[in-house]
Amino acid sequence: MAIVRLEALSSDAIPAILEIERDANTAPWSEQAFVNELDHPHGIFLVVRVDGEIAGYGGVWIVVDEAHITTIAIRPENRRQGLARKLMNELLTRAQKQGATCSTLEVRAGNEAAVKLYESLGYRTIATRRAYYPDNREDALVMWNYDLAA
Ligand SMILES: CC(C)(COP(=O)(O)OP(=O)(O)OC[C@H]1O[C@@H](n2cnc3c(N)ncnc32)[C@H](O)[C@@H]1OP(=O)(O)O)[C@@H](O)C(=O)NCCC(=O)NCCS
Repeated sequence: MAIVRLEALSSDAIPAILEIERDANTAPWSEQAFVNELDHPHGIFLVVRVDGEIAGYGGVWIVVDEAHITTIAIRPENRRQGLARKLMNELLTRAQKQGATCSTLEVRAGNEAAVKLYESLGYRTIATRRAYYPDNREDALVMWNYDLAA
């Protein structure tokens, strides 16, 4: 049975995160973007470890009562094992403890895995931003969960 742990981002995790990020995102975050999350005043950023190895990460910014999901990714060989759902649940639980009552995010319209993940967590698409992503002009879906307590 694999041991799954969620822990706060630390600087020594960033190289492994960057490897996952380059594979997971067509417009990957820079190293500096992750460094900024180390001490973000309104952010929570967690790393998932499976048997000690970094398997994914995700973050949220809390803006008054809104939890904005900033990024989430799981290493390809660790996908479909419930890790992203576990990570999202922990991020949202911690965000609620810091005053968030609702949550929002943007996702590429063609990212079926992510859309299904968010729908399974109570998010619904409330708007589309046309050609939002500059790398391929893909639409963004704007998703909201208006009631995290539900
Ligand atoms: C999206 C992503 C984070 C999902 O991670 P994951 O750990 O595989 O997801 P989970 O195993 O927790 O899946 C939870 C639910 O999401 C949905 N889901 C996840 N992957 C899916 C897929 N490939 N196809 C359809 N539904 C999927 C399912 O509803 C799943 O529940 P189920 O397994 O009980 O059916 C992962 O595919 C990833 O890292 N993708 C690249 C980065 C990315 O797109 N991030 C989101 C940016 S907005």
